[in-house]
Amino acid sequence: MRVLSVTSELYPLIKTGGLADVAGALPLALADRGIEVRSILPAYPAVMRKLGKAKEVATYADLFGGPARILSAKHGTLDLLLLDAPHLFDREGGPYVDGTGQDWPDNRRRFAALSAAAADVATGKIEGWSADLVHAHDWQAALTAAYVRFGSQPDLPVVVTIHNLAFQGRFEARAFGELGLPETAYSVDGVEYYGGVGFLKAGLQYADAITTVSPTYAREIRTAEFGMGLEGLLRERGAKLHGIVNGIDIAEWNPEVDPHIAAPFSSRALGARSKNRKALEKRFGLKAGKGPIFVAISRLTWQKGTDLLLDAIEHIVVHGARLAVLGSGDGGLESGLLAAAARHPGEIGVITGYDEPLAHLMQAGGDAILIPSRFEPCGLTQLYGLHYGCVPVVARTGGLADTIVDANDAALAANAATGILHQPGSGDAFKGAIDRAIELFAQPGLWRDMQKRGMRTDVSWDRSSGLYADIYERLVG
Ligand code: ADP
Ligand code: GLC
Repeated sequence: MRVLSVTSELYPLIKTGGLADVAGALPLALADRGIEVRSILPAYPAVMRKLGKAKEVATYADLFGGPARILSAKHGTLDLLLLDAPHLFDREGGPYVDGTGQDWPDNRRRFAALSAAAADVATGKIEGWSADLVHAHDWQAALTAAYVRFGSQPDLPVVVTIHNLAFQGRFEARAFGELGLPETAYSVDGVEYYGGVGFLKAGLQYADAITTVSPTYAREIRTAEFGMGLEGLLRERGAKLHGIVNGIDIAEWNPEVDPHIAAPFSSRALGARSKNRKALEKRFGLKAGKGPIFVAISRLTWQKGTDLLLDAIEHIVVHGARLAVLGSGDGGLESGLLAAAARHPGEIGVITGYDEPLAHLMQAGGDAILIPSRFEPCGLTQLYGLHYGCVPVVARTGGLADTIVDANDAALAANAATGILHQPGSGDAFKGAIDRAIELFAQPGLWRDMQKRGMRTDVSWDRSSGLYADIYERLVG
């Protein structure tokens, strides 16, 4: 089976969050199942610098306001197609925002172009290859479903995956005229969304199957609390909505051979972890101490509960624990964290920005990772934490609830606990979870068992890639 995966980011070429990790790792896991996946993404300058060689396989005289090409390239075993449209993508900055953090004003054209080109490629634009199925990720790719429906092969199966409903690609009604879709597409069961245009909404409407990244989030988004306006549609299309939990790339994240950490370790040789802990202390300027080192690796946003983390800082310090934070995002939260680090030198360390190798070291050296998210479609940092013996302390929501077993008495007695869960959105509940972590950490035998159990949990793509393959096979027949 041939699948075209459509994505706006893909690790290791371009990444702002977990979507890149999934888009980079799932194709490899599917390949092991005999499914041939090609991924199409924009030819951002950062991507082209990493790729070097690429071959032109198709051209457009005009694609949303300028000439464009489709290039083909390999990166390791990843089979890539790049949409090279200089007027849309040849600019420095992030994939979605400019250097000042503002959305690119032409995002609707940029990602409509990606989606339109993807639909063309899937249905024969390049010689010698077409797709049996299209898999589009998030709002940036969701419109592919619409372009397929109104294209030369309207029955081609399309799967749309929701990684985060908070980002929907909503634009004013007048954007519709630029999309090149027939007038009939502007309807309640099409692209129209609350009087404007909704890219994700359109994708969900036209998809043959909708997936999201955990079973709990798949249930949550059918409610007004989590559905962000799309709950009605998601309930209506409920039979086509599946929750499949993300895996991680265990070749990229392998503590036994990780080049980014200070010392390799495994569940059989946990002792070596202490060298990573030392390196982490040094990197964040933390002094030695008896309590646990908490880490947080995150976008600094309301979704991730960074305000709750900020509010828990004195609590952490008073109880003899330390904290290392790596993140970027909301300016107010960033400066709040930096001020807290200045107030508590040696106890709180904060590094702002984006640093992939450092994220590995933190998982390898931290004792526990704090993830107080208000909502979390899946979450990957708790999976990296499990795999690296960095015990997850997480809010009971979305994929966090599906992947971590709380260390309550029953789970501890049954040797099943892998982390600590708390009620989402509550500062007191989060502090309570921190207290429980500190208490458990003071019982080294028990803590070590919990680390080992996490490390032996299967967080690979093995099982979940099979669930995607099942959906593909059902649709392709
Ligand atoms: P989301 O995609 O919502 O941000 P996930 O937990 O799914 O959350 O994925 C986040 C990914 O980004 C993980 O791979 C995590 O390690 C990484 N990450 C987040 N912030 C940073 C940062 N400041 N530096 C390095 N990696 C980061
Ligand atoms: C989104 C979600 C996150 C999920 C990631 C990959 O960014 O916020 O929970 O893990 O996508 O699916």
